[in-house]
Amino acid sequence: MATLTRRVAILVFISLASATIVIRPPAPDVNSCPGYKATYIEETSSGLTAELQLAGTACNIYGRDLATLKLQATYDSKSRIHVKITDTEEKRYQIPEEAFPRPHSEATGSAKSSDITFTYTTFPFGFTITRRSTGEKLFDTTGDTLVFESQYLRLKTSLPTDPNIYGLGEHTDSFRLPNVNHTRTLWSRDSYGIPQKSNLYGNHPIYLDHRESGTHGVLLLNSNGMDIKLKTVNGQSSLEYNVIGGILDLYFFAGPEPVAVAKQYAEVAGLPTMMPYWGLGFHQCRYGYRDWIDLAEVIANHSIAEIPLETMWTDIDYMYNRWVFTLDPERFPLDKVREIIDYLHEHGQHYIAMVDPAIAYQDYPTFNRGKQDGIFLKEADGSIHKGVVWPGVTAFPDWFHPNTSPFWVGEFVEFFSADAGVDIDGVWIDMNEPASFCNYPCNDPEADAIEQKMPPQRLPVRGPPRIIPGFPGTGKPTASVHSAERRVRKRQKGGSIDLISPLYAITNDAPLGLSDRTAHTDIVHYGGLSEYDTHNLYGAMMSYTTYEAMLARRPGLRPLIITRSTFAGAGKRVGKWLGDNMSQWDQYRWSISGMLGFASIYQMPMVGSDVCGFGGNTTETLCARWASLGAFNPFFRNHNGDTSIPQEFYRWPLVASSARKSIDIRYRLLDYIYTAMYHQSIDGTPLLNPLFFKYPKDTNTYSIDAQFIYGNALLVSPVIKENSTSVEVYLPKDTLYDFHTGKKIKGGGMNMTLTNIPFDEIPLHIIGGNILPFRSSSAYTTTELRTRPFTIVIALDECGEASGSLYIDDGVSIQQEAVIDVMMEYKSGKLSIKGKFGFKGEKDGVSVKIEAVKVLGKKRKDGRSGGEEEEEVFEKKVDVELVGNVEIKV
Ligand code: GLC
Repeated sequence: MATLTRRVAILVFISLASATIVIRPPAPDVNSCPGYKATYIEETSSGLTAELQLAGTACNIYGRDLATLKLQATYDSKSRIHVKITDTEEKRYQIPEEAFPRPHSEATGSAKSSDITFTYTTFPFGFTITRRSTGEKLFDTTGDTLVFESQYLRLKTSLPTDPNIYGLGEHTDSFRLPNVNHTRTLWSRDSYGIPQKSNLYGNHPIYLDHRESGTHGVLLLNSNGMDIKLKTVNGQSSLEYNVIGGILDLYFFAGPEPVAVAKQYAEVAGLPTMMPYWGLGFHQCRYGYRDWIDLAEVIANHSIAEIPLETMWTDIDYMYNRWVFTLDPERFPLDKVREIIDYLHEHGQHYIAMVDPAIAYQDYPTFNRGKQDGIFLKEADGSIHKGVVWPGVTAFPDWFHPNTSPFWVGEFVEFFSADAGVDIDGVWIDMNEPASFCNYPCNDPEADAIEQKMPPQRLPVRGPPRIIPGFPGTGKPTASVHSAERRVRKRQKGGSIDLISPLYAITNDAPLGLSDRTAHTDIVHYGGLSEYDTHNLYGAMMSYTTYEAMLARRPGLRPLIITRSTFAGAGKRVGKWLGDNMSQWDQYRWSISGMLGFASIYQMPMVGSDVCGFGGNTTETLCARWASLGAFNPFFRNHNGDTSIPQEFYRWPLVASSARKSIDIRYRLLDYIYTAMYHQSIDGTPLLNPLFFKYPKDTNTYSIDAQFIYGNALLVSPVIKENSTSVEVYLPKDTLYDFHTGKKIKGGGMNMTLTNIPFDEIPLHIIGGNILPFRSSSAYTTTELRTRPFTIVIALDECGEASGSLYIDDGVSIQQEAVIDVMMEYKSGKLSIKGKFGFKGEKDGVSVKIEAVKVLGKKRKDGRSGGEEEEEVFEKKVDVELVGNVEIKV
């Protein structure tokens, strides 16, 4: 008895002490695991299959070691090898085809002809991917044993010292990933404030390994939570996958140029969807527009301030109590919302609204229909799984359920009806990690919702509507620009599976567990899929279903869908914004690497950050700089949080000026951007490039992530320091022209400080050797912009040559009947334009006329000195319709 009392006392002491001192058993050493032996090896000309047998006593460290595995290595093509290691019967979870359609492998490559080769050691089993031309090992697992357990996979490759690794998003790490002691976790998470080092909303398990000798890419096609560890120990670098489920499904892309890797990845992940032309216009949004009058005011104020507004957005504010597919009858009554949208459409502008996946657990038509159709995620006892989101208690659609797509399409077609509903042009989908505000086990969501004040109290209805100049139904103008304001199933080693707290705990923004603030990971989706395995796919699956809904709602038209959570391949259907950043200078800076990851590696070119920042209060100078940088985000939207000060560009003269100037440049370049986006959509050539994509041999470029190249030709070097008017930039060794003056820049291949950069300007350089189609002047809307003729700008390289392209279509249709798709070349004083000339602009009032040609860096004979001199800008007026091949002497 005395002993028992003592034991209890010790336990109490330990538990009290554990409030401050965490006593953990020593971490098990996976290196002591036995590894595998390759047997029954069958080699063919296009690959190999083998059985892998556990080569000793199971270590069962984070689960049960699988005794036998199946290995398939296939030379998919000359530039791609596919290595798949699974359980022998392939019963383990693999990403469903609907979430990631695989390319049909023709196995056209072979060990003899491929650019990269697969070799292996039988015991302990390990494999190596080698670049044939250099003999360099690109991926080499032979130094460390393979661990394949029920809930833990470990695969480690050695890397060159201090490797240049990029990708593995979504993150706010430096673009060139830290490689000394860095863990990159992939697990979708609502990440307010997008802190550094934390896992964020989306998951793209692809990396680029760039070496002076060539670049290759590696995709681990796995949607389970994982920690990818980048380490350098005693000068030896490595990358180690620690995955809590699924299989090892690896694709190796040979490159050897960075752009080639991006294109080869697109062959597996899919090519990005083409966006409508208008989608590249400027978007205005905020959380906290109180009513339709706020919207009217913001629309009018942009017009007064002459800041081109292409698309007005509405956050969850429009909903009744934040129930999706409803309108707040007092603040956003249908007739007023329709009036606003009609006004926008009549003025060539657009409207986008938000939809969240979480559906209010309330007796209302959408919820009732969802319940009836059985589309919600369910608990083991068949009851609907509840979370807490904006409307309070909510249910989450199961995107794998066959009834969900018809349900979602039905809600879209009815609520967003053009004739009688909210006539949207695009849609914004959010909170699709899926986010919940309730921590596991969330036993009492009702109480949790009350405690968290969800939905928040509605503001009192305001007095009579304010009067908006020129806006229908609101009377005389008075508005001034500035006045507008666990269930642990069983937890045993070598036994059953723990879907809530697996023994290997990924670093999910520790101390959060897998099921905190999201749908619980032991939930079973349709078809027996667990949330544990498919969590990282939720946002992508919602994206795909929403794409179908938008197509049903607007047949034949390219859907513009912007999502928060993504998975590899989501770009083939949607664009993405970078989530809830803060109005801070470092976040403004990180937005560049965030954007580069999506556009240049993950094949999601329609990407951008919340310009001026979402959380906290922006400042005039930050917002002015961000407005200019935002104009070089493919997706350009000002958005902020409900408790932040208003930050529409017209609120400060400096910001307004910055927005006007940068939108003017963006719009004049819109066909150049559209053409670059089109090319990415047909062959994966990135619209945005980190400098090393263009200068792969220039080691100075490898770490640069505050400058980037927009398309092929435009070097963007934003000022990145708070309240500074200068910026240290790297100018590559190339022919460069100042964007504004057209003057050739002396130097190159070195760091330079650009000084005296006003707060409403952004440093831009045109890279020689490129031809850029400009619209001769900008306009208030993109529809109007397309009526402007072209000025073709030819920036010569050192040989006096240049090339470029131009793509024009109707801007909105998925299938185009006729397009202009031309190559432009300049040689020996002649511009020639050749290609397809099917699209006729007249029908839509689109100009396809060239009215001027400008040449930068053209040499001319100087009569006085008799020698050759450089002319800064040579301009020739022309009058040429793009109806057939063109030759212009300039
Ligand atoms: C999420 C979104 C944010 C939005 C808010 C309200 O935090 O990331 O953009 O404004 O929800 O809907």
